[in-house]
Amino acid sequence: MAVDLGGTNFRVCSIQLHGNTTFSLTQSKVAIPKELMIAPTSKALFAFLAKQIASFLEKHHNDHYHSTVKRRATISDPTGFKEEEIFSLGFTFSFPVHQVGINKGTLIRWTKGFDIPDAIGKDVCALLQEEIDALHLPVRVAALVNDTVGTLMARSYTSPGKTGTLLGAIFGTGTNGAYVEKLDKIKKLTSQSSEEGSYDKSTGEMIVNTEWGSFDNHLSVLPRTPYDDSLDAESNNPGIQMFEKRISGMFLGEILRRAIVTMIKNPSVGLFTDEDSSRNDIHSTTEVNSDSPLHTQWGLDTSFLSIAHGDSSLGLKVTRQTLDRDYGVSAPSAEDAEAVKLIASAIGKRAARLSAVAIAAVVLATGKLDKPQDIATAGDDSHVNEDDVVDVGVDGSLVEFYPGFEDYMREALREIEGVGEKGEKRIRIGIAKDGSGVGAALIALVADKSMKNELSA
Ligand code: GLC
Repeated sequence: MAVDLGGTNFRVCSIQLHGNTTFSLTQSKVAIPKELMIAPTSKALFAFLAKQIASFLEKHHNDHYHSTVKRRATISDPTGFKEEEIFSLGFTFSFPVHQVGINKGTLIRWTKGFDIPDAIGKDVCALLQEEIDALHLPVRVAALVNDTVGTLMARSYTSPGKTGTLLGAIFGTGTNGAYVEKLDKIKKLTSQSSEEGSYDKSTGEMIVNTEWGSFDNHLSVLPRTPYDDSLDAESNNPGIQMFEKRISGMFLGEILRRAIVTMIKNPSVGLFTDEDSSRNDIHSTTEVNSDSPLHTQWGLDTSFLSIAHGDSSLGLKVTRQTLDRDYGVSAPSAEDAEAVKLIASAIGKRAARLSAVAIAAVVLATGKLDKPQDIATAGDDSHVNEDDVVDVGVDGSLVEFYPGFEDYMREALREIEGVGEKGEKRIRIGIAKDGSGVGAALIALVADKSMKNELSA
């Protein structure tokens, strides 16, 4: 089983791995109530998660659920039931954690609008297990997984060809990447830290969760506009996740909203005013209603950027209708829509180009492009030898739904020194849709096997 906490929705799924790059998945999804994301204590949130797991088991694994819950509730020793009756759960928890074991890690800080102070420093697996046990569910939290790590695993499992995947990246509500690094390059492990934790050295490699969302928090190289600045100042974590605040779905709509509001307030711009729209339609009055979501923080959804950027309808009718229907702007003109589209596109393009920076950084730092391409195929530009492919798995609403996101990323990759046209061709980017669930289940399975091996040894 796997559960996923870290975006707008909480997902529960059970997965059957067929062992041949395919799998079947049953899942349920529920929006996380806002009041659980910002609360003084985390108990309510974790109890809510456990309750969703219970409903899922009841619905999809009914026989198993009823018999086991009953038995567990009547025996005093929680270990007194058969091991095979227990689901191993991969817990995708997509926030920065200090991970000290396969199913143990303490929360460093919340991101993406969550803010529950008492959870900081606590082991999130223990918090979830406690609530699972309170409901007598046959579930053991076997692995703690960041969504990028899950995506990396899922992509490795499903990716075509024999090439291993280098990087798993999310461009969704937040942004982050996890990649495969050589053990000797991991400084944390060589420093004399007493809280080193336990890890397997057999492969000589380890997956590193970069938390690149907090890249350049001091803004020494990142671009900044007044809209970025005010968004950050009024967020619940100012000065943190500055890279993410320019890239990911939670923030792009808000950047656009701030730009629009600034223009509305400046009469010389003439956005959404009658002087402008009267040329289009003399019978209606263009105005922004007083109850328009544009007046409220987070009032503009990032999906609107995709709509505006992708709008090729005559007179940008789709964008105008959306502004009218969803954003309380009555009768916007084609010029209004054009202006909004232009800004939306600039915000989306900047996000995609910054995303390319993160991908390129990992590809270059790991030296994956150092090996010269096979001479036999070097002349043929369209063909890349399987051995030369650098595989990247991605997921998230932006890569999935923002039109041309990957094209913008690739354009930027070609401009980056050390990647260039040749390097860009070698980077294969594939969507690992809902990969974190499958990835987390894979990790839970492996964790479970190694635990059983240890016990029997
Ligand atoms: C935020 C989290 C990170 C996660 C990313 C994508 O950046 O801090 O852990 O991977 O969002 O969901």
